[in-house]
Amino acid sequence: MFDTMTVTKAGGALCGAFLIFLLGKWAAESLYHTGVEGHGGEEVAQAYSIDTGAEGGEAEAAEAGPDFATVFAAADAAAGEKVFGKCKACHKVDGTNGTGPHLDGVVDRAVASVEGFSFSDALKGLGGNWEPERLNEFLTSPKGYAPGTKMAFAGLPKIEDRANLIAYLKGLGG
Ligand code: HEC
Repeated sequence: MFDTMTVTKAGGALCGAFLIFLLGKWAAESLYHTGVEGHGGEEVAQAYSIDTGAEGGEAEAAEAGPDFATVFAAADAAAGEKVFGKCKACHKVDGTNGTGPHLDGVVDRAVASVEGFSFSDALKGLGGNWEPERLNEFLTSPKGYAPGTKMAFAGLPKIEDRANLIAYLKGLGG
């Protein structure tokens, strides 16, 4: 019944079918190659080869480093306590004023609102509250942010230092 010829034919048919399947798969893949790769990222840029100048802008933003919110989200309050060593000469966190106003609860506190401390007009004129983002700007360069301030401090150049310090101050409460 199953003579050699039948087996060979059946085998041949199977192989042929498999080959056609493979060819079809290959053809489909090469046809849809760009579409599939497009989800990956790089190929997308190639699909839109018209230069709008937008890519250059993105590159510049990336060079500026992570923004404050990102660094602040990962801030380390314990490290911030060490940074606070630079402020201790003038600021206390026990509710009493020194050369500068006390800083317990300063995060989100109204600017220049500490009773019994005579703030400069520069600080009184700022208004609003000390949100983390504002403290970040102020501490980068106190005199740059509030020209005329009495705070004789050059500023903290490192964004990590500022973020950690603000996280520490925030943890102190009011
Ligand atoms: C040499 C003294 C001195 C040092 C050091 C100093 N400050 Fe000050 N700070 C002041 C004075 C004085 C003021 C009040 C400024 C004014 O009225 O213009 C002030 C004001 C502030 C205010 C505004 C407070 C408010 O209630 O509106 C903040 C916030 C502040 N300092 C944070 C810091 C931090 C954080 C550090 C450390 C990184 C620091 N300061 C280091 C003297 C200092």
